[in-house]
Amino acid sequence: MSKVSKAHLREMKKIILTVITVGLAGMMFSFALAYFELLPKTRSEQYVVFCQSGTCHPKDLPYQDHALSFDERTDDLLSRMTTTEKIGQLALVEKNSIHNPEDIARYGLGALLSGAGAKPESNTAEGWFQMVKDFQEQATKTRLSIPLFYGVDAIHGHTNVPGATVFPHAIGLGASKDADLVRDIAYATAKEAAATGVNWVYSPNVDIAQDMRWGRVYETFGSDPSNVSTLGKASVEGIQSFDNEGLKVAATAKHYLGNGATEWGSSTNKDFKIDQGNVTLSDIALRQTQLTPFRAAIEANAQSIMVGLNQWNGEKVIFNKYLLTDVLRNELGFKGFVVSDWYGVYENETDNYQALVKAINAGVDMVMLPFDYKTFSNDMQRALKNGDISKERLDEATRRILKAKFETGLFDGVLLEQASDIGTIEHRALAQKAVSESLVSLKNNKVVPISKKTPKIFVAGSAANNIGMQSGAWTVEWQGIDGNWIPGTTILKGIQDKVSSSTKVEYSLVADFAETSGLADIGIAVIGERPYAEGWGDIESPTLSSEDLMTIAKLKRVSKKVVVVIVSGRPLNIKDFVKDWDAVIAAWLPGSEGQGVADVLFGDKPFVGVLPIIWDL
Ligand code: BGC
Repeated sequence: MSKVSKAHLREMKKIILTVITVGLAGMMFSFALAYFELLPKTRSEQYVVFCQSGTCHPKDLPYQDHALSFDERTDDLLSRMTTTEKIGQLALVEKNSIHNPEDIARYGLGALLSGAGAKPESNTAEGWFQMVKDFQEQATKTRLSIPLFYGVDAIHGHTNVPGATVFPHAIGLGASKDADLVRDIAYATAKEAAATGVNWVYSPNVDIAQDMRWGRVYETFGSDPSNVSTLGKASVEGIQSFDNEGLKVAATAKHYLGNGATEWGSSTNKDFKIDQGNVTLSDIALRQTQLTPFRAAIEANAQSIMVGLNQWNGEKVIFNKYLLTDVLRNELGFKGFVVSDWYGVYENETDNYQALVKAINAGVDMVMLPFDYKTFSNDMQRALKNGDISKERLDEATRRILKAKFETGLFDGVLLEQASDIGTIEHRALAQKAVSESLVSLKNNKVVPISKKTPKIFVAGSAANNIGMQSGAWTVEWQGIDGNWIPGTTILKGIQDKVSSSTKVEYSLVADFAETSGLADIGIAVIGERPYAEGWGDIESPTLSSEDLMTIAKLKRVSKKVVVVIVSGRPLNIKDFVKDWDAVIAAWLPGSEGQGVADVLFGDKPFVGVLPIIWDL
């Protein structure tokens, strides 16, 4: 070989090598680019769902295809998910514990909630809508763009928002026994919730109340399993039939199981007496009573069921695989997802990791996390690595949650702001109708209906001119509010608007009427309980306060006849006093539309309510 050709060959080799090296480097570079662009970020396990560029949104994938069934779409989406993404779907985080909104994408969180009273800075319909929209934007900028469930306790309307219609609490609807009414109210509530971007409500409460000392009696439809089942089912139907161009609202039947039958003194919460307590019941008795409404809610296809904070025969229900899986899934055929209540998985536990493992394996699909989601995420990773929770169980829970999201239209619907749907005239008229249907006559010595032409009426009492009191708790704040600063009509105003122009209505909070002005033909005392929520309302002997009794006594002295309207969340012990009163009406917690009370007091509507729970007179 000549010198020239050898040199040429060397030159050629060099060129080829350079081309190969550059080519390889280029290929590696583009592979790396593609890798980082298309695959989840893997700097740490927790960052896998975070897309920094925002360009990796999915497109035209089977799970986005409307033509496929929800099952097919769910399976497709599930098959694309990393373990971390699946774990994220199981987390339901209280919005006030999210310190960095980017955590929603970073942890791929599945759901957020506003615990009672947790509101946006601007507590208006628009403020809510913007808050939920901002959260949704965080969730949907992830690799697979999975929207959030956003949940609230809309138990008597979407009452976190001032201006929302405040319907009577469930105990009043229990007295109405009117399933159509309950369905309409549930629908209206879903509509008001959706107007603020909310797509999930923790309602209906289908607990069967058994003890008037319990602070949650008013959240229930009462103590009759059959009535509670009928109304609970109607409520689920009403909530889930709302459909705003594809976007719906999911219902939650709560609290599974036995939450209304806990025993006085058994609470595991040191501040409470009966709430969060223990239920001693045989399997058969539990099925015949407390289980019945859950059967009905499942028939109505409730998307979720919330597990209570109570125990059954000494064991926390949240850890009870028999109840959560054997009965609920295998026997009742529940297809939605099971969510835990507040800190329920960890409450009173010394080993949070073991508690989580037990709850998930028992059948909890989504864990409510009021305080900390980072530990939850790490513990789930650890449990899967250790084999304490199987991959199959994780897939099962994730599938149920995703399927509910598909069925609720979250992947297909668009958030549409309709702040005008909040507190509409129609909804308030519905609430007024509900109030009149919920009133129960406990005693009536031919005084009610009162003539609209009665010359002189005195009105007195702590609940006569107080929308906060007539609305009860879970209204704007967890423990309710005091006074007249949300829209509505007080019972006093309802009375004033009802009577003839010739009738003189005088009002005094504590019945300080000048005796010189002569006797009233009728004195109406509107008295009752101050708002309370959950175990804060556990009271050994619920009765009227001495101030209320004093007011009634003073009113009686200046009135020919006395009508007592009791605003309360439960039956009160009034046995010693009732003989002194001419008429007594149970008004429960009527909500924002006090005219509904006047409608019955003055005979525009008849009494149709019947006691939904025993009231021992
Ligand atoms: C209550 C639930 C409620 C949840 C979220 C808990 O304290 O027991 O009924 O849905 O809080 O606010």
